[in-house]
Amino acid sequence: MATRGQASGAVLVLEGALAPGGAALVRDGAVVAARGAGRAPGRQPDLFVAMRRVLDDAGVSVGALSGVVAGLGPGSFTGTRVALSIARALSVARPGLSAAGVDTARLLVAAAGVEPPVHVLIPWGRRRVLLATLDAEGAVVSARCVARDPAALRDLAGVTIRPAVLDDVATSPERTVVVDRPSHEALADLVATGAVPLVAGAGRTLAPAYWAPSDAVLPPRGARLADGLHVVELAPEDLDDVVSVERASFDDPWSPAMLGAELAPDAGRIALGVREHDTGRLVAFALAREAGGEMNILVVATHPDRRRQGIGRALVRELLDRARARQVERVDLEVRVSNLPAIALYEREGFTRVGLRPRYYRDGEDALLMSCLLARRPAAP
Ligand SMILES: CC(C)(COP(=O)(O)OP(=O)(O)OC[C@H]1O[C@@H](n2cnc3c(N)ncnc32)[C@H](O)[C@@H]1OP(=O)(O)O)[C@@H](O)C(=O)NCCC(=O)NCCS
Repeated sequence: MATRGQASGAVLVLEGALAPGGAALVRDGAVVAARGAGRAPGRQPDLFVAMRRVLDDAGVSVGALSGVVAGLGPGSFTGTRVALSIARALSVARPGLSAAGVDTARLLVAAAGVEPPVHVLIPWGRRRVLLATLDAEGAVVSARCVARDPAALRDLAGVTIRPAVLDDVATSPERTVVVDRPSHEALADLVATGAVPLVAGAGRTLAPAYWAPSDAVLPPRGARLADGLHVVELAPEDLDDVVSVERASFDDPWSPAMLGAELAPDAGRIALGVREHDTGRLVAFALAREAGGEMNILVVATHPDRRRQGIGRALVRELLDRARARQVERVDLEVRVSNLPAIALYEREGFTRVGLRPRYYRDGEDALLMSCLLARRPAAP
């Protein structure tokens, strides 16, 4: 049976997500050694060397370690895995070793010394950043890839924390905390405060934190898309493409300003598209909002020349998947009573007719209210 609590004795700390990271040793609530991993140009961080050095510095052998804590990412793909591989190998060799993982957002919030709720920006490839939102308890409640676009990031509510490497992201300076401490030192400090509960035997199950798809390409989970198409997260720079599908799909299209507002980074907004692999052309999109355990689908539209190919269904299923992942219990939408293709699509995907909104649309047409109840997840034992 696993036991929880601050590990006494020597705890090895490994952090490679915010590369190059490094290793540190925490003993009885104090950081006694820390070494950066260093990195030759084009080489991966050498966490093995950093680990050996901190053990030497502290005069502790691997066999004398009582615990290991690793950064779970997201961040550097390789750095995260090197840290986790070492932690797991140690745990396999020493089944009783206590272990814990700490995700990058939590690490940055602790390093910045601010109280959640907060937004955290983490580098994600060359053009994007990962925007994670932590609730008052410090738990990550949402995370999404967004463009590294100052305008898109400027209006975030609350404090935004970002690593110093994001110098080209100009969020509101008065609400931005830049963390420029080496990540392994920040993680070691967090471990030294006792804020990271270590669990005996947990090291073998440490897994990297995936919050966003690599290259923003999502494998269609709920429905198979035809070859040559893929689901993408939409960002503000996709506005022109979205406007063009919207105009081809509706007689009374939303204005670019209204659509742009839905593409702005916001924890409660979901904007998905389907693009052609070869041409990059956007052929469909879907917008939804989520708040208070409910999701509202605002629009699903497929370009007329790509209809009846399962694209709308794939988008609706992806939205329902997202809803389940966010513990949403009910998904609602309004649709024109005359829009039989859309009503058929939604009914086939599990929506039922729950009401009517008379004269809801500007031209006087009624809206049909449809709802899809999602199975409640069983409570954790
Ligand atoms: C409604 C809409 C999004 C459907 O997109 P799509 O990519 O063509 O949908 P799919 O190919 O995934 O169709 C899935 C199912 O929906 C139903 N459906 C879709 N179009 C239909 C049509 N013209 N007539 C009847 N049923 C239809 C069918 O049950 C279909 O399954 P099937 O092809 O196996 O019979 C598309 O017609 C559209 O963009 N319309 C204009 C915008 C709109 O009205 N959006 C909805 C309101 S927000």
